[in-house]
Amino acid sequence: MTLQTRPLTPHIGAEAIGIDIRQPLTPEQVHEIEAAMDRHAVLVFKRQPLDQDQQIRFAQSFGPLDLGFRRVRGGPHRFKHAELADISNVTVDGDIAAREHAKIVGNLGNQLWHSDSSFQRPRAKYSMLSAVVVPAKGGDTEFTDLRAAYDALDEDTKARIDGLTAVHYALHSRFMLGDTGYDEAQRNVMPPVEWPLVQTDPRSGRRILWVGAHCERIVGMTVPEGRMLLWDLLEHATQREFVYRHQWEVGDLVMWDNTATLHRGRHFDFAERRELRRATTEEVVTSPEAQRLAA
Ligand code: OGA
Ligand code: MN
Repeated sequence: MTLQTRPLTPHIGAEAIGIDIRQPLTPEQVHEIEAAMDRHAVLVFKRQPLDQDQQIRFAQSFGPLDLGFRRVRGGPHRFKHAELADISNVTVDGDIAAREHAKIVGNLGNQLWHSDSSFQRPRAKYSMLSAVVVPAKGGDTEFTDLRAAYDALDEDTKARIDGLTAVHYALHSRFMLGDTGYDEAQRNVMPPVEWPLVQTDPRSGRRILWVGAHCERIVGMTVPEGRMLLWDLLEHATQREFVYRHQWEVGDLVMWDNTATLHRGRHFDFAERRELRRATTEEVVTSPEAQRLAA
């Protein structure tokens, strides 16, 4: 079967039809999905509930898997594979987490606009999130297009940010939420990394305004000046015209490109169960341009 896509907004997101992602993918199907990702940055596969092994296999078709925040906060988990992120308000025992539980801070952190694992090198490429249990109300996920956001910047701003470097730190968004209970060792597990604020996608050639909640400051600027710039850019990048909002149904799989988009969860009642499962690939740097950017 070949892939067909149906765009969901003018800039970002498409429904993907015609490929059963529960089966092993052929190299042609992998290529088709990657090409569609280059174009739409977010793909929605409806009515394709995956078990854990199928989700791991699907994700591995696109590269090595990422462990993300589990490096900072390890501990027990309830999945067969440590590479599956438990995007839920449920504890390892399967109970709905109490308001004070660390799991809820994770949920709230995901409600800030971010790119998964932008705080590490290599960074994350594709995230693939599968819906297992969804609340009756709320809990949508929004995605914004950082390519369209860059294109829409005025020329003065483009000139002002050209060549700037942002510092990304895993715990910055946690600190912003007042979640500061990390010891020295935990704070140092994932040292800050630097990324160009403006990137060129090695595959599509498009420029990308790469901001988000893990950005802590701008190299060569005072912290307040850098943060103000980052907030302004984030506000610009998350205007409604660049956003696709996904309303989950059980069995949806949404795949997004972390190097070209930001996403955030939306509010839901934490007393209700919401369970999603995510696998994420690491970016594999291939082109000379991409190698230079990652250096
Ligand atoms: C994620 C994430 C948001 C949500 O899975 O990486 O940020 O809506 N999810 O749960
Ligand atoms: Mn995320």
